[in-house]
Amino acid sequence: MEIQRYSTTAIIIHWLMAIMIIAMICMGVYMSDLPKGSEERTWFFTLHKSIGLTLALLAITRLIWKLISTSPPLPDIVSATHQKMAKATHHLLYLMMFIQPVSGYISSSFTKYSTKFWGIPLPKWADKNPEMNELFTQVHEISAICLVVLLVMHIAGVVYHMKRKETELFKRMWFG
Ligand code: HEM
Ligand code: HEM
Repeated sequence: MEIQRYSTTAIIIHWLMAIMIIAMICMGVYMSDLPKGSEERTWFFTLHKSIGLTLALLAITRLIWKLISTSPPLPDIVSATHQKMAKATHHLLYLMMFIQPVSGYISSSFTKYSTKFWGIPLPKWADKNPEMNELFTQVHEISAICLVVLLVMHIAGVVYHMKRKETELFKRMWFG
């Protein structure tokens, strides 16, 4: 049976973002424990913010592409319940692709530092506010946990269908 693949653009953005998001989760956890005021902490925070904002731009590009192109429907052999679960997970992953960088950017805006995007300072629209910084840092942490849970469910779904060999699910998101 002919495999209906995602478009090459969708595949490139999917894998680029997957690598960057997984690296960002590891980096975020690592850098948060570094000693305050250390050069290493500043270096990682600056890099994390620039990659995170790049991810926000990629998420916008991806969403636009998703809306203007057509995604291949899942084969009928995948049960209706699993199709619904996959769709819900994908929608929630899209939501997290936005909540994650936006919460990080807002929390950073409530510090005394201006947020830089690859060295370019972004307009400072908020004053230092430790309570708001704490609130959005917590949103950023909780959304990271939700993102990891969704990612585990996403990978489990793909592996489940690969093991059952009823569909060539992985190949739909791979170059061919
Ligand atoms: C943070 C990382 C990831 C995110 C945010 C993510 C997100 C998504 C989303 C939203 C879709 C639906 C297609 C679309 O609209 O773009 C999708 C499809 C897919 N993803 Fe991921 N993904 C991630 C990592 C992975 C990993 C590590 C795997 C490896 C198992 C994987 C395998 C797939 C496959 C095979 C599909 C196609 C599913 C289908 O046939 O409909 N993804 N992913
Ligand atoms: C998809 C993009 C992003 C991902 C996956 C991500 C992930 C994470 C994770 C997992 C943490 C560690 C949370 C913890 O355990 O304490 C973290 C911390 C942090 N992130 Fe992000 N992040 C993203 C984007 C951003 C952006 C765009 C900014 C700012 C412009 C940002 C600013 C921060 C800051 C300042 C911290 C440290 C919080 C603290 O401990 O004070 N992040 N991030």
